[in-house]
Formats: sequence, C-alpha cells, structure tokens
Amino acid sequence: PRVIFSGIQPTGIPHLGNFFGALLNWVKLQNDARPEDKLIFSIVGWHALTLPQDPQALRTARREILAVLLAIGLDPRRSVIFHQDANPDHTELAWILNCLTPVGKLRRMTTWKSKLATSRNANDESEVDESLLNAGLFTYPVLQAADILAYKATHVPVGEDQEQHLELSRDLADIFNRTFKARSSLFPLPQHIITPSRRILSMRDPSSKMSKSSPDQNSRILLTDSMSAVQKKIRSAVTDSITGVTYDPQNRPGAANLLTILAACTGEDASAVAARYADKGHGALKADVADAVEEVLKGPRAEFEKLRGQTEYLDGVARQGAERAREISGETLREVRARVGLV
Ligand code: TYM
Repeated sequence: PRVIFSGIQPTGIPHLGNFFGALLNWVKLQNDARPEDKLIFSIVGWHALTLPQDPQALRTARREILAVLLAIGLDPRRSVIFHQDANPDHTELAWILNCLTPVGKLRRMTTWKSKLATSRNANDESEVDESLLNAGLFTYPVLQAADILAYKATHVPVGEDQEQHLELSRDLADIFNRTFKARSSLFPLPQHIITPSRRILSMRDPSSKMSKSSPDQNSRILLTDSMSAVQKKIRSAVTDSITGVTYDPQNRPGAANLLTILAACTGEDASAVAARYADKGHGALKADVADAVEEVLKGPRAEFEKLRGQTEYLDGVARQGAERAREISGETLREVRARVGLV
C-alpha cells in the first residue's frame, strides 16, 4: 500500500502554482486511492516561522488554508488533514535527523543559497552575511524530511521547486537506515509524484515561478480571487510580441505558461492546446485561459466562502486530523527511539 504525504505552508491563500503543481493532484490521488492507501496532508506552521510572520495573520492563514483544502475537495474521512504544529513528533524526529545531516548538504540547498545570495554584508557588499539568516531557515529541509519520514511516506506529490528537498529526504532516510541497521530498513525512500504543470510561472515575470512571497499581487492568481480579479491578472500577463501562439517554454515562457495553465484546467497536453491557437493571437488565448480558470475556481471559491466562518467545524477537523496523524507517527517514533538507543 502507498503512503502519500504532502504539505503546504500557511503563508496566505494558495495560488494557481500551488493548485496545479500540488493541491489538485492531492485531490486526484485521494479520489483514485485504493482503500489500503494512506493519504496525509499537513499545514506546516513550523516551516512558515522560518520567515517573520505576523501572529494574527498566521492564525488566520492557518484556518483559511484548512478551509481551502476542504473547499477543493479533500475529504477528512478519506485523508488525514492536520496542522504540523499539533504533532510534536515532527520536531522530535527533525532533531534526530539534524544529528545525521552533514552541514555541507544543507549549504548546497538552492533555497538556502538563494536566501544567502540576497543577504549582503552592510560594510562590504561583495560579502554574503550568514549572521542575518536564522538557523531554522538552514535546517528547514531536515524538518521537511521529518514530516515525510514520520509517516514512512512512499510518495510525495509536490511541485518542481521541492525536488531537491525530496532528494535530501531520501538521503536522510538512507543514512538513518544504514546507521541504525536492524533486521530491516526503517524508512522507505519517498518517491516524487510530479504533475505536468510542475512549475507555474509569475504572471508579471515569466523568468521566475509564481510565488506567495513576491511583492507584486498581480504576479499570482489566488484560489479565492474574484472573477474580475482573475480576468484582470490574466489580461495583463506578460507574454511576447511574436505573432501566433506556439508552445515554446524556452523562448516564449509567458505564452507557454498560459498554455500550461489552460492545459491544466482542461486536463490536456500543453502542445495540443497550442495547436488550436496556432493562427490566433495572445488576446484570444488570454480570454480562454481566464474563462477556463474561472470555471475551475468558481466551485472551490463558493465552498470556501461557506466554510471559512465555520470555525468550530474547522477546528474539529483539525483536531481529529492531528489525533490520527499522531497515531501513525507515534508508532514510527517509538521505533526510531529504540533504534538510536533513547529508550
Ligand atoms: P509551499 O507551501 O511553498 O508550496 C506548496 C506546494 O505548491 C507547490 N508550488 C508550485 N508548483 C508549481 N508552480 C509553482 N509556481 C509553485 N509554487 C509552489 C510546491 O512545490 C508545493 O508542493 N517546503 C514545502 C512544504 C512542505 C512539504 C513538506 C511538502 C513542508 N514539509 C513535506 C511536502 C512534504 C513548501 O514550502 O511548499
């Protein structure tokens, strides 16, 4: 049987990148799962703390993200849905894995390197300054590995930007298995499940991915955006001045991104979609993308509006989810403690 695990940070309402890169696939995996498969989805509050968060905004985001997950079709009867911070097993395992993680591996993480690149010594701009970055940011990928391994997950549906973190999870599973050998390996090596729309780009700058942290609100489409907001953001999406539409991610990333989004909405292949627009312009493509996105978002948006105020129901779902999560991870942690000699 498969154990599917994934997570999302409560740093605001998810955008189309989160949705097509990961969340939509969570729902599909849930709906196609066999009864013996386990599905576990976590809202990872501890990861969010690696960047400064306003406590009130974080409280709201935690609850809203849960409402979004339910609104898009995750079903608490079939999937374990919970807040990471309600299960201390994650941090305990993270500590143990930290003690097995070579610092050099963490220094090679591209997310760390890009944070470091923007952190410059005030007196000497040519020097990067680690003292401005917190240690949580550095060991972030180890906590992520702990999230996954605490459930002995076999499959992890995430976007392309998480590939390196998942590779580290496999490395740490392997290091643990070899360091604490017993009759059998404790951890399976978690596999990546990736969607065709693994990387959705910014609507304003197609050289970067769509992200929650970009200061430009128009660079991302949120799952709860109104129809007019969706239309406006897609109409103003940056493309190119070449006539006709082709799917060419290398040379025409903006147009390719729109085709990827349209393909994700209709469940087609992006190049097949492109063929239909060969002699049309970007305007026609954008109008159809806006319609298709609206079609996908309108159900979840209405459901979200219904759920967001039902705090008692949401808190109940989270509480039950956490209980089920702790049952599974508690078993793993008992084995981990026994193997490392902490019993
Ligand atoms: P987070 O919260 O940044 O993103 C959640 C999911 O959305 C995907 N994603 C994208 N996919 C395609 N195009 C984009 N522009 C885009 N932006 C985001 C991400 O790949 C992710 O799947 N470190 C993780 C959270 C995490 C986690 C875990 C995931 C913590 N522990 C354990 C899996 C397993 C993160 O920051 O995701």
